[in-house]
Amino acid sequence: MPLKLPKIIGHRGACGYAPENTLESIKTAHEMGVEWVELDVMLTRDMIPIIFHDDTLDRTTNGSGNVADRDWEEIRQLEAGSWFSDGFAGARIPTLEETLELLIDLNMGLNLEIKPTPGKEVDTAEVALDFLSRVWDAHDRLLISSFSHVSLETAMDMAPDWHRGLLLETEWIPNWKEMAEYLAAATINIDGNACTRIQVENIIDFGKPVLAYTINDPQRARTLLQWGVDGMFTDVPDIIGEILRVIH
Ligand code: G3P
Ligand code: MG
Repeated sequence: MPLKLPKIIGHRGACGYAPENTLESIKTAHEMGVEWVELDVMLTRDMIPIIFHDDTLDRTTNGSGNVADRDWEEIRQLEAGSWFSDGFAGARIPTLEETLELLIDLNMGLNLEIKPTPGKEVDTAEVALDFLSRVWDAHDRLLISSFSHVSLETAMDMAPDWHRGLLLETEWIPNWKEMAEYLAAATINIDGNACTRIQVENIIDFGKPVLAYTINDPQRARTLLQWGVDGMFTDVPDIIGEILRVIH
């Protein structure tokens, strides 16, 4: 099933308007007409896949310490909305399972970023793909990505036909082409604020779609579109979506 990439992917839901990686953030993206969201998945100590970005709980919840040191029973009681605004008080960290249910209900596409806590590169990919395989049928609207090559390799071994995105850090690995070939990456996902025109052209010449994270500035969005970037992750899909509507 060929990948049907969108031009706009809501980053961590629509995290400019709602607390990142929560069901509220996904619903906010959906209300804005966003078709795909990017979400980060990691494991609790007892191997429950949750939608969460940082290794530690401190920034986005009322808890503290490492996610990898807590069981789901503790994580599920944390509050994950007040840090963003009072209006989102009571938001929780969602499991991957309930998140997939919501996305399917809303008929949304997903870029699931495997974000393993240190040492959990294989386990996180295995558990996440296992959950996905039980419920997700629309593989034209699913992209599995990671900065971790081990996680991507695990995803490839488990589900070779599912689409994978190779995430490049701001500093590109010198062998990105070999890595993309080895992992049979469907997309190359780059830091769109730091990349150069030549870098984008190199990926286009290589023959893969380019996705750029995380673009919140309309002028940068225009520039990247001119360079040939295929899609963008954004915290503010209404603003960046408007640029695309004007240009196309
Ligand atoms: O997948 C794009 C982007 O989310 C990668 O960086 O740190 O925001 O997960 P980060
Ligand atoms: Mg991410």
